[in-house]
Amino acid sequence: MSTATASEDLRDLVQSASDSFARATTPADLENAKAQFLGKAGRVTELMKGMAALSVDEKKTRGAAINQAKQAIEAALNARRQALADAELERQLQAEALDVTLPGRARGQGGLHPVSLAWERIEQIFGSMGFDVGDGPEIENDWFNFTALNNPPNHPARSMQDTFYVDMNDDEGHPYCLRTHTSPMQIRYATAHAKRHAAALAAGEIPEVRVIVPGRTYRVDNDATHSPMFHQVEGLWLGENVSFKDLKVTYLNFCKAFFETDDLVLRFRPSYFPFTEPSAEIDIQFQTGPLAGRWLEVSGSGQVHPQVVRNMGLDPERFIGFAFGSGIDRLAMLRYGVNDLRLFFEGDVRFLSQFR
Ligand code: DAH
Repeated sequence: MSTATASEDLRDLVQSASDSFARATTPADLENAKAQFLGKAGRVTELMKGMAALSVDEKKTRGAAINQAKQAIEAALNARRQALADAELERQLQAEALDVTLPGRARGQGGLHPVSLAWERIEQIFGSMGFDVGDGPEIENDWFNFTALNNPPNHPARSMQDTFYVDMNDDEGHPYCLRTHTSPMQIRYATAHAKRHAAALAAGEIPEVRVIVPGRTYRVDNDATHSPMFHQVEGLWLGENVSFKDLKVTYLNFCKAFFETDDLVLRFRPSYFPFTEPSAEIDIQFQTGPLAGRWLEVSGSGQVHPQVVRNMGLDPERFIGFAFGSGIDRLAMLRYGVNDLRLFFEGDVRFLSQFR
């Protein structure tokens, strides 16, 4: 075998190994290809075995040439291994790529209901004027809801507030009903603070009762401006010298803060409630804006009736003041320009999301 032919066949072998490695597209294919050339029965091993018949000198040159070819094949194998590993890594990176230029997936954003927004504003504004914020039961007994408010059984004023009755009486035999207004909280709040009042009186001071009570109320009513469940805020301010003038200033300041405008006037219109004497409806009128020029009724009010003060356990000669009861839903409708009360209670997200 001439040297030239010998090195030529080794070059072909290296070439054929590289080609075969190049055709392998997976690590498993590549290991099979490797076995064909470098394995125990592989072609390089065969060549080694074929040297047995050669002379010592021939063995040296042939052996060195075969070794070189073997190294070239190993280098080709390693290069292909690396190429396959690189390709696999690249594939994974592509598959798991984060496209940081994609717009983020926004999480649905909630918000407070417009009635809750109005409710919170009311608490905040009256709070800033020194009013405590009270809270009480929606299932109320007939005594707190009517009788204690100077509205005895069979009094015609009860029919102004038809409500839902609960088939159960309290310990003293008073039937339970869903409260028709927040006014029963006048009595509950004042009597709950009886100890504080007594202590102040004993110390020679006239204590004040100054509170608002927002809450849910119920009546048998259902149309564009009435819902069987609605919201009111009760106000009560009793003290040594609290007058209608204080009511007017307090309520006007509240409205200016609530509607965020000074272009607003207020009037009292004579009315009737069993628990106040005299009684008045409070109307407001905006001087500018979409509602300008119309008188809008926003609240009932009046000087707290002496009998009601007595039912609070207080002396009507010393505790004088006013109360009011306003519709929170009504205030929210005026503030947000909503013309149908039912929209507040239908739970339609297209409507509610406008208040986020
Ligand atoms: N409770 C009355 C109603 O729901 C509103 C009201 C009027 C409350 C006069 C008051 C008040 O505190 O003084 O119709």
